[in-house]
Amino acid sequence: MMPSKSKTPPRPIRIQDNTFRDGHQSIYATRMKTEDMIPIAEEMDQCGFWAMEVWGGATFDAMHRFLAEDPWMRPRILKRYVRKTPFTMLLRGQNLVGYRHYADDVVKAFVDKSCEIGIDIFRCFDALNDFRNIETCVERIKQNGKHVEGTVCYSLTRSHLGGEIYTIDYYVRKARELEQMGSDTICIKDMAGLLSPYDAFALFTALKKAVRVPLHLHTHYTSGMGSMTYLKAVEAGVDIIDTCLAPYALRTSMPAIEPIVAALQGTQRDAGIDLQKLLALSEHLEKIAPKYKHLLADQRLSIIDNGVLAHQIPGGMISNLASQLKEMKALDRLDEIYQEVVQTRKDMGYPPLVTPSSQIIASQAVLNVLFGRYVRISNQLKDLVLGLYGRTPAPIDKALVRKILKNYKRGQTPITGRPADHLPPEIEDAKKAMGDLARTDEDLLGWILFPQTMEKYLKAKYGIDDPESAPTNG
Ligand code: CO
Repeated sequence: MMPSKSKTPPRPIRIQDNTFRDGHQSIYATRMKTEDMIPIAEEMDQCGFWAMEVWGGATFDAMHRFLAEDPWMRPRILKRYVRKTPFTMLLRGQNLVGYRHYADDVVKAFVDKSCEIGIDIFRCFDALNDFRNIETCVERIKQNGKHVEGTVCYSLTRSHLGGEIYTIDYYVRKARELEQMGSDTICIKDMAGLLSPYDAFALFTALKKAVRVPLHLHTHYTSGMGSMTYLKAVEAGVDIIDTCLAPYALRTSMPAIEPIVAALQGTQRDAGIDLQKLLALSEHLEKIAPKYKHLLADQRLSIIDNGVLAHQIPGGMISNLASQLKEMKALDRLDEIYQEVVQTRKDMGYPPLVTPSSQIIASQAVLNVLFGRYVRISNQLKDLVLGLYGRTPAPIDKALVRKILKNYKRGQTPITGRPADHLPPEIEDAKKAMGDLARTDEDLLGWILFPQTMEKYLKAKYGIDDPESAPTNG
């Protein structure tokens, strides 16, 4: 064995496991059932992960919509088996785990409930990196005595760091803002796998000097750079990284844990995780994963999306675009639309491409190509221009703002304050609207987030006949 001659004390890299959330969300359409997590949950707890991500993102939606599972139950159930490893969730700020901005009363109630069901660490982000959109949840998480992981979405305007907006200074400024807001850790969230290894080295070297709280890096393997990026970030001093067990890793998911643990063995950053335990867990997943295999995107032999390296457009967005175009019988115009996505994003002040901004930009790019630039405009884009999603990274051209908001019923002059200050409380109205269907406050919150699908789920759960479905007597 090679003895370490360095005098610096060992500083193990800490690892967050994302198998039970982002892993299956990224490659198995968020369809993993709780019952398939239980058999390995106790052993996962013994691995020494910094945390396990088990909730948030699309899980809430997919569980009630597709799996007939009560979304609130998963953390509760897993907590019976995972007693020492903290649980983490992904929270889209004022969007929570839904698709629009919710009023502050909903955000507070949702955070309280999430703490109650066992979430310990909250990774809070906003699609525009406008942190006014995470203020309410950050405050509430702190009041509950839980861990805030303030998060910056990683984005670029060209193939590498720099250029008009996304410079090292930008990320340093954002990280400092998050530290001042009381973040216990700070995460750089690279949802499309755009962060290249040497940019990661430069970025984390700068961030380590700028802030005192531990730094966390989340990347996806999409472009094929993920593992190299982690290695360089580790060299630059990143404290925590996100991985998945091999059967739930790579492709558009995270880098796999096993090669990283092996690569760092015997170094100052040795993770101290037992590789044998990881192999046993992967073996178990190999046995259950075949039932999810049909969900794997396998149209191409390549497991990496090397196009991302050229156009920085995440794969999920491309497949959405393609199906949208297919419906409109315009699939042959995909190349034009790629270019239009770049232009539309620039027009809209270069938002990072993540839910919901990615969908807003993509749909508008399609409309622009099919009907002419900003001839037909989606209401979501109008809301974005109106400031209802927050402040875009760069300002939008004033003449374009006038054109887009002309005669818009929600307003013609962009708001400048915190978007949620314009939202009236929602909970009391929702109670009235739901009536008897809400038996618990969890039903109520779920319904506010997903009115149609949650109503269907709750009717099935409580055995209430849906008058629209076939009538039955008794
Ligand atoms: Co992710």
